[in-house]
Amino acid sequence: MVKEKILVIGASGQIGVELTLALRKIYGEANVLASDLREQNDLLRGTGPYVSMDVMNKEMLHVQVIRQGITQIYHLAAILSATGEKNPHLAWNLNMQGLLNVLDIAREEKLHKIYWPSSIAVFGPTSPKKNCPQQTIIEPTTVYGISKYAGEFWCNYFHMKYGVDVRSIRYPGLISYKSAPGGGTTDYAVEIFHHAIEEKKYQCFLKKDTYLPMMYMPDALEAAINLMEADPAKLIHRNSFNVTAMSFDPEMIAAEIRKHIPGFVMDYNVEPMKQGIANSWPNSMDDSCARAEWNWKPNWNLESMTKDMLLAIREKQAKGLI
Ligand SMILES: NC(=O)c1ccc[n+]([C@@H]2O[C@H](COP(=O)([O-])OP(=O)(O)OC[C@H]3O[C@@H](n4cnc5c(N)ncnc54)[C@H](O)[C@@H]3O)[C@@H](O)[C@H]2O)c1
Repeated sequence: MVKEKILVIGASGQIGVELTLALRKIYGEANVLASDLREQNDLLRGTGPYVSMDVMNKEMLHVQVIRQGITQIYHLAAILSATGEKNPHLAWNLNMQGLLNVLDIAREEKLHKIYWPSSIAVFGPTSPKKNCPQQTIIEPTTVYGISKYAGEFWCNYFHMKYGVDVRSIRYPGLISYKSAPGGGTTDYAVEIFHHAIEEKKYQCFLKKDTYLPMMYMPDALEAAINLMEADPAKLIHRNSFNVTAMSFDPEMIAAEIRKHIPGFVMDYNVEPMKQGIANSWPNSMDDSCARAEWNWKPNWNLESMTKDMLLAIREKQAKGLI
C-alpha cells in the first residue's frame, strides 16, 4: 500500500477541523499535516502536526509540500458566500489563486490526489429549482458561485491536460457543532441550535419558506473520504459531484427543534443580501451520479440530525466547552 502524507489547507475552519480529525484516524496522526492562516483550532491541539500557512504564498506552500513529503492535499481555504458578497475581489483572489497554487504544485510534484469542495452556489436563478441535475444551466450570480464554477473548470482542465487527480463535491449548507461556520448563507441552520438551547428563541435571517439543501457534517466528511477513496476508473462525472442529504426551510427545522424544546420561539429579521443569495440557489439536488459512481448515500435526515445536534451541544455545554 502506498503511504500517503496529507496536507489539509484551511484546517481550522468548519469542515477543516473535523475532516483533519477524521483523516488522522484513518491515516495516522503524524501523516496528516493541518495548516491554516489563523491559529490552530483548540480541537486540533495535540492531535497531530500543524503549520501556520497562507495558501496565497505559493513558495511557502511548495516548500512545505516538498519538505513534508506531501502526497495528497485537501484544499478547504475559501471565502464563503455571504462574506464574499461583502468583499468580492478578496473572495475571487483567494478562491481562484489559492486553488491555482494548489493545482500547479500538484502537477509539478505529481501529487497523488487533490480534494477541493465546490458548492451548490454554482447554481443560479436559471438552474432548475427542484432536483437540480448534475449537468444543467449554470449561471451563478454571487462572486462565491462564480469562483466555485470557474474552479470546477480549472480542476477539470488540470485533470484532462496534466492528469492531476482532483476530486470535488458540490456541498449544500453544512450543519455541525464542533467548529463554527465561516460566513455562509445557510449558517442560520447552525446558529438556531445554540440559541434554542441557550435562550429558547432565535431570530432567523432568512424568510420562513426558504427551502434549501443541507447536510449534517458526518455525512459531509464521509462523502469527502469516500470520493477520495473511490476507484478513479469509475468516476465519469469529475469536478464536481452534486450530493445532498435533506432539504428544509426555517419553519421545518424550528418545528423539529420544538419537539425537543417545546417553548422554542422563532421570529424573523430578514437580511436582504443573504435572502437574495438563498433565492438564487436550488431547493433540492439530484445526486444520482454520485450515488452511481462512488456509492454516495447519506445517513442523516432532519429528524436524526436535530436530535444529535441538540444532544452534542448540551454535552459541550455541560463540559464547559461553550
Ligand atoms: N460550510 C459550508 O456550508 C460549505 C458549503 C459548501 C462548500 N463549502 C466549501 O468547503 C470549504 C471549507 O469551508 P468551511 O465552511 O470549512 O469554511 P471556513 O470559513 O469555516 O474555513 C475556511 C478556513 O480557511 C482559512 N483560510 C482563509 N484564508 C486562508 C489562506 N489564505 N490560507 C490558508 N488558510 C486560509 C480560514 O482561516 C478558515 O479556517 C470551502 O471551500 C467552502 O467553499 C462549505
